Amino acid sequence: MSSLSLPDTLPGPRRPSPSSVPSLRWGVLGTGWIASRFVASLQASTSQQVAAVGSRTQASAEAFAAAAGIERAHGSADALVGDPDVDVVYIATPHHLHRSGALLAVDAGKHVLVEKPIGVNAVEAQEISAAALAAGVFCMEAMWTLFLPRLDVVRQVLGAGLLGDVRTVLADHGEHFDPPHRILDPAVAGGSLLDLGTYVTTLATWALGPATRVQASGEMTATGVNGQAAMLLTHAGDATSVLHSTLLTRTPTSGTIAGTEATLTLPGPFFMPGDVVVTSADGSRCVTWTDPEPIGHGALFHSALEVARCIGEGRLESPLHPATSVQANLRVLDEVTRQLGITCSPTA
Ligand SMILES: NC(=O)c1ccc[n+]([C@@H]2O[C@H](COP(=O)([O-])OP(=O)(O)OC[C@H]3O[C@@H](n4cnc5c(N)ncnc54)[C@H](OP(=O)(O)O)[C@@H]3O)[C@@H](O)[C@H]2O)c1
Repeated sequence: MSSLSLPDTLPGPRRPSPSSVPSLRWGVLGTGWIASRFVASLQASTSQQVAAVGSRTQASAEAFAAAAGIERAHGSADALVGDPDVDVVYIATPHHLHRSGALLAVDAGKHVLVEKPIGVNAVEAQEISAAALAAGVFCMEAMWTLFLPRLDVVRQVLGAGLLGDVRTVLADHGEHFDPPHRILDPAVAGGSLLDLGTYVTTLATWALGPATRVQASGEMTATGVNGQAAMLLTHAGDATSVLHSTLLTRTPTSGTIAGTEATLTLPGPFFMPGDVVVTSADGSRCVTWTDPEPIGHGALFHSALEVARCIGEGRLESPLHPATSVQANLRVLDEVTRQLGITCSPTA
């Protein structure tokens, strides 16, 4: 393929419209940072109903419900998953509690959307998806990037072979955090890897397939969590990804998927709404898809629409983010964890 075969425009995204999917009744477990943004995004951009919230304390549940206009507030996870007027539970607790929260919801017969990472390792991911499958309920990791319109443009560019033979992924995710943020706390499975690194490893395994080899180096923080990790992955056919995550410094957070004919770049933050730029390998042509959505967590609703679409179609997992892909990603993180000598936090 020559640079002349790049189209004049990139294909537009094919995401479902909010009105084309069933309006589910959501229960939210956890009242923290992401829970409030997820609820605000659903309420602003969809006809999904946020019906209930669950917290460790009744007071926190009631405060969250009052602020967000949610009808029912539950003072325990058990009460939330037992709410007969909840169809799907969104697990928005710290990583080490995803497994217990998800299994509780699944056992109660609820569909689940579990924040990323779905579990702290591949074994937990497998356990959760197997339980959901056995219970006949839908289960998905809330890796929201994969459901953004931006990523559907990328999906189509890759599917059309516009990049040629895809050989390389480069991605970084660096944000600076200070205590007492949970990311610095080993007791809640903190560290850059599971919070930020999972975005870059997901992009790499999504574009190039499971890793066949993983090499990592990194450093710990004084609080005892992974501060930063540099990761070199090999994929089928010796394709390569070069990845980095850090909680110590702010880095460009950009993503690149490069092929023999063209290079696709996702200007940072690559995991949020933003443009898609495809440049021919000789640099002579460049085509850009411009994202109309603002950068930010207002776009979280796209993952909820994917849940509603799949449940409406009677699916138990999303074809856009199946359990096999989730587990392939967590196997990479498991191996990085092993090589860096990170002690896994106990899970509940
Ligand atoms: N998609 C994204 O962009 C994104 C962004 C940030 C975080 N996340 C993910 O979302 C999850 C939650 O992150 P967050 O930043 O929202 O955390 P957070 O602000 O600390 O909130 C977590 C909530 O979980 C509940 N919880 C239950 N047991 C807890 C415990 N032992 N310690 C602390 N909280 C506990 C708390 O609610 P109650 O007190 O009401 O029980 C708390 O407010 C993480 O897994 C993270 O990876 C995703």
